[in-house]
Amino acid sequence: MSKRLLKLIRVYTIALITLAFGVSTLGADSDWIMESMSPNLDDTASLQRGANLYVNFCLGCHSLEHQRYERTADDLGEIPHELMEANVIHTGQKIGEHIQSAMSEEDAKAWFGAAPPDLTMVTRVRSPEWVYNFLLTFYEDSSRPFGVNNKVFPNVGMPHAMLSLQGIQEEVCFGNRPIDLLDVQAALRQDRVDSIKEGGAENCGELSLIPGSGMFSTEEYEQAAFDIANFLHYVGDPTRAEREAIGKYVIGFLLILLVLAYFLNRNYWKDVKKN
Ligand code: HEC
Repeated sequence: MSKRLLKLIRVYTIALITLAFGVSTLGADSDWIMESMSPNLDDTASLQRGANLYVNFCLGCHSLEHQRYERTADDLGEIPHELMEANVIHTGQKIGEHIQSAMSEEDAKAWFGAAPPDLTMVTRVRSPEWVYNFLLTFYEDSSRPFGVNNKVFPNVGMPHAMLSLQGIQEEVCFGNRPIDLLDVQAALRQDRVDSIKEGGAENCGELSLIPGSGMFSTEEYEQAAFDIANFLHYVGDPTRAEREAIGKYVIGFLLILLVLAYFLNRNYWKDVKKN
């Protein structure tokens, strides 16, 4: 092999490794242990709730520039267009238009320093799981401009949009017991209260909800966060559900074809072998 070729291979290998490393660390901006979440596009009720929550709690700041109301209505269980216009569109837009936020970019810049990003692609850039955990992990932090911080997006410049639903979470300490990291999520639910009572300065940073500070129970709020993440997963690729349904037919068709091809093949060779 020539020297030049070897050099080329070496350069490519280094570039690939760098790229792979870069991609794998992308989004690893916090060491918070995520709760797992897998979206479900068959759950139309969840997608409808997610759309409704989105319009009421997020659209004030975040548009969905690549998504139209009309398509959303048709995809999410064929919602009648009049119903969509009367109950979901609060911005005075027409059903055929893209889902725009009512806030102007100048106002957004003045209030938040930067315009809140469009969220059409957020579950593809991050992941549905990331968005779900993002919505679950706002907590009180008086050093931040909006009085809250976030575990998966540290120092986020966004207020807790669903504070009234979830209530206020605080950072708490776990006592001095060593924690097996994998057990943390399970331990959190069960032992949180006991551990906080035990006190101690070690293992701080887990979150605990101030009871009664929100309208929703923990389960209801988790469902709401799931529904929004699920809806944003749909928005990130509106034809996914359709494609998956068609895919099943295509595979069925290919299987039938396989059986036919098998018998056809056998039939042909029967004559050949005889001779
Ligand atoms: C009051 C305005 C406002 C509201 C309401 C709001 N956000 Fe935000 N959001 C922001 C701003 C500003 C940022 C940018 C924060 C930053 O970059 O530090 C942001 C960032 C985000 C991000 C991170 C995007 C990224 O990849 O960097 C997500 C996800 C998000 N918001 C989701 C939501 C959801 C879901 C809702 C509704 C429950 C919502 N937001 C409601 C202002 C808002």
